[in-house]
Amino acid sequence: MDRNREAGGDFAAAAQKDGARAQSCRCASDSTGVPRRIFLRGMLAGGLAASTAQPGIADDTKPGDDERPQPGDVFVFFEGERQGKIVALADLKRSAAPALVWPMDPKSKVVRSGSRLNQVVLLALDPASLDSNTRSAAPDGVIAYSAICTHAGCTVTGWVKDQGTQVLKCPCHNSEYDPRRGATVVFGPAPRHLAMLPVSIDNGALVVAKSFIGKVGPSTSA
Ligand code: FES
Repeated sequence: MDRNREAGGDFAAAAQKDGARAQSCRCASDSTGVPRRIFLRGMLAGGLAASTAQPGIADDTKPGDDERPQPGDVFVFFEGERQGKIVALADLKRSAAPALVWPMDPKSKVVRSGSRLNQVVLLALDPASLDSNTRSAAPDGVIAYSAICTHAGCTVTGWVKDQGTQVLKCPCHNSEYDPRRGATVVFGPAPRHLAMLPVSIDNGALVVAKSFIGKVGPSTSA
């Protein structure tokens, strides 16, 4: 067993002791437990708007913010210094850890952060390393998947090496998904692959090409 799995096992043990906390890991709240959009609204009111401002991200009332990604949507960064910034092709490094993002309607500027089922991971991989189905939805090797684990709905945030290649890993119970083969499950209790979100590249911007292919999240999700 590799180190990552051992580390994940520790997490899983902790998760069993504190199931509620595990289920909420990297969900729509900050580390204080404040719901994410309330937290963002507080940041904006506190004068951080200049660094994070993106129309729609802090507004609870915008219609469409809980709709699934629509064709033509762009993506904005979910967290970090670039939170709220539109993701361009140049922002993704090949084979680097995935970017956690939200879709955004480019016309209304509504970020679809009203449902955590809209969290997406974006990756840039070597196109030659993708199977044919995955490559067909991944221009220049850029591929997007739902970030919601199909086991119990945690956010899939890990990026680890497994037998010489990288896999997406869920921190809650260690499920691993192969992003080069349609995010098929290669380890752990997840019952099925992550939903795929086909993308296209438009003048250097990453754009949703089609709706999710496959069910988002666990069987019980909406
Ligand atoms: S929620 Fe259990 S492996 Fe992801």
